[in-house]
Amino acid sequence: MDKIVVTGGLGFIGSHTVVELQNSGYHVVIIDDLSNSTEKVLEGITSITGKTPIFEKLDLKNKTAVKAFFVKHNDVKGVIHFAASKAVGESIIEPLLYYENNVSTLVYVLSELRKLPAVSFIFSSSCTVYGQADALPITEHAPIKIPESPYGNTKQIGEEIIRDTCKVVPALKAIALRYFNPVGAHKSIEIGELPIGVPQNLVPFITQTGIGLRKELSVFGDDYPTHDGTCIRDYIHVVDLAKAHVIAMARLLQGKNKSNFEIFNLGTGKGTSVLEVVKSFERVSGKELNYKIVGRREGDIVSAYADTNKANNELGWKTTLSLDDAMFSAWKWEQKIRATE
Ligand code: WQD
Repeated sequence: MDKIVVTGGLGFIGSHTVVELQNSGYHVVIIDDLSNSTEKVLEGITSITGKTPIFEKLDLKNKTAVKAFFVKHNDVKGVIHFAASKAVGESIIEPLLYYENNVSTLVYVLSELRKLPAVSFIFSSSCTVYGQADALPITEHAPIKIPESPYGNTKQIGEEIIRDTCKVVPALKAIALRYFNPVGAHKSIEIGELPIGVPQNLVPFITQTGIGLRKELSVFGDDYPTHDGTCIRDYIHVVDLAKAHVIAMARLLQGKNKSNFEIFNLGTGKGTSVLEVVKSFERVSGKELNYKIVGRREGDIVSAYADTNKANNELGWKTTLSLDDAMFSAWKWEQKIRATE
């Protein structure tokens, strides 16, 4: 069984990807510093797959520890790199934290992988690199814009670091996956998005409002040039997203990649407004959501949704789960974690 190392593997997307990797027969080793997760997630993964992945608590900012890890695991065949800070607003206040945690750590990991015989590398990137795209849906050829935040910049820089490294390290091949908006939870409700602190993202804020933890959802603006005035995004179910990682890893391991560094957008291809997400929640929960329209949020773009042709045609992957599936699972997850508090 090929050994795959998943950095940030106890996080939201990481844990769902570990489940799909294990279900596909890979031997998974998780690295996580537990800064935005807990070891309890391991129990959730195990309850789904029946196999407990190896977990090593490791701060990737510790270059010596990263070196020791990959000396120990020198039989690794693939690495999926999720580990990063991801709060857009926080990155504006603390840019150096983001450049250290998202960029320096990538350099330390790649510096060790280049010493190994052959490694396949999957990078967690984001549609945020496109900013407000000039044309919709957004293809992988859309121009990279001036980043809206240091977080977004770390994704752009990350892709450039990987591209430049793959050029000089023939044994290293990589794919950057540009996620649109990941939402939802595993249908087993054993894993989901851990709510640490006040949620920045829309869906956890909706479910926390639905369960009564938050008084009401603030909808950040309804005066945008869209059909209902609220911003449009491409909300992709986290399980569909996780499956794409397994397919992308297999593409590299089987040598089906067409170049040493490839990029794919991962989305549903469908744009959904904030109010439509609210309606989806109300449909699947049977509850009316408390919300109020407030002013626009600084840095928000009007509309972003993916052109999915390249992922469909090259990876042979497309989403199968709907927004209602995602909202239903997110709601069930919210109810479960509040019941066990
Ligand atoms: C979605 C829409 C808000 C909260 C960010 C990152 C992206 C990725 C996903 C990491 C927007 C509106 C939100 C609320 C609201 N993160 N909203 N009230 O900003 O599209 O993307 O998170 O990879 O890289 O940029 O996601 O969920 O924050 O917002 O009205 O309380 O919901 O204005 O239109 P976003 P989001």
